[in-house]
Amino acid sequence: MSADPASKPQPRRFRPAGPLTGRVRVPGDKSISHRSLMFGALAVGETRVTGLLEGEDVLATAAALRAMGASIERRDDGAWHINGVGVGGLLQPDGALAMGNSGTSTRLLMGLVASHGICAVFTGDASLSGRPMGRVIEPLSQMGAAFEASPGGTLPLMLRGAHPAVPIEYRLPVASAQVKSAVLLAGLNTAGITGVIEPVPTRDHTERMLRGFGAKLDVEERDGAEGMERVISIHGEADLQPQDITVPGDPSSAAFFAVAASVVPGSDLIIENVGLNPTRAGLFEVLRQMGGSVEELDRREVGGEPVADLRVRHAALTGVEVDPAIAPAMIDEFPVLFVAAALAQGTTVTRGLEELRVKESDRLTAMADALRLAGAQVEERDDGLVIEGTGGDPLPGTSTAAGREAEITTHLDHRIAMSMAVAGLASRKGVLVDDTRPIATSFPNFSDLMAQAAGG
Ligand code: S3P
Repeated sequence: MSADPASKPQPRRFRPAGPLTGRVRVPGDKSISHRSLMFGALAVGETRVTGLLEGEDVLATAAALRAMGASIERRDDGAWHINGVGVGGLLQPDGALAMGNSGTSTRLLMGLVASHGICAVFTGDASLSGRPMGRVIEPLSQMGAAFEASPGGTLPLMLRGAHPAVPIEYRLPVASAQVKSAVLLAGLNTAGITGVIEPVPTRDHTERMLRGFGAKLDVEERDGAEGMERVISIHGEADLQPQDITVPGDPSSAAFFAVAASVVPGSDLIIENVGLNPTRAGLFEVLRQMGGSVEELDRREVGGEPVADLRVRHAALTGVEVDPAIAPAMIDEFPVLFVAAALAQGTTVTRGLEELRVKESDRLTAMADALRLAGAQVEERDDGLVIEGTGGDPLPGTSTAAGREAEITTHLDHRIAMSMAVAGLASRKGVLVDDTRPIATSFPNFSDLMAQAAGG
């Protein structure tokens, strides 16, 4: 988290609360916000962005782009204005690029720097410094960039970009939109065609937005060894045209409210303006499979993305076996899905989730530990959790009769903190979270909005 490392942890008890009602509007999509700033910074002229997520992760991207020559400012009308340097125009930054907690900023910016003739040092907080960067170092090295990374291919690392860089065709070894995007962004300033083969579809905001900015990008679907695969090709040395962008609400943030409203009796909540790109909307689908009541109202398009208001009502949830094929479309939503599972009737089985171990924390272990501490029955396996739900009864919570209370450890992971806040709402005695500071990375007004919806 990019909060001052010297600042103290902010523990907080999330108490049982009444039904969630009324209307809430979650902040802008984090993935789209990062990309709006990056592509705006590479266009010539002024890009205007409304609805940008003003969370620490996105602000880290803005600061890094400013350090490389882009002008980025928020005006009084709340819109962000970006004057770009043009593809190929990034400047040598003076100091290290401080990425805070943000894997997306780091991996996508590494892609951008890799094909510019500049050198950049990337640093991050304790969480980010433990995350694997080898997955982007590998393809970007093939394109000609040089790296000096910390042991295990981690931050801090130094990247010397290659200009000219060499176009490659790269088959993704892991389902990762960040790796896909890093290669495509490096390809923007590389003569020729750079291709990424994606055996499993992941979020496609980079593809949609690059096209919107005028890049020539082809997507071909073909039969591959593991089924249908996508081949995404970017034509290099592109000229990007500035855009007017409206960022839709983040489905990953809406997920906390959708689960909270599903599990707190009497809830009937409208979550406005939620992005429903099919590569992101898996959680809502799984909630429905569990018997949840998630209705889409006024489906429309915002900023080239499908959007709707979601009406979510309390419902008796039933455990399910989650199809691993849906995982990439809800990769960030498993922590909160585990909370829904802990309150459902019967068993929920998840598998194929090895990637969760390399997110902001090891989310399988972190959530297994956290839910057990709150009184849930959880079995941790190598690639997923098996959770026996309470059948709708509240979880006991972290309070003990003896008065000494165990704290949930968030491991600098915003989604662990918010998921366990939701568990607290549906508990008997509340859930004590050790540190709420990480929430500001993606959802600065989470607590206020939750208090507004839950009437307290
Ligand atoms: C993101 C991709 C995902 C996701 C992250 C945002 C993106 O990461 O977990 O929060 O904006 O491209 P991976 O690509 O590592 O799966």
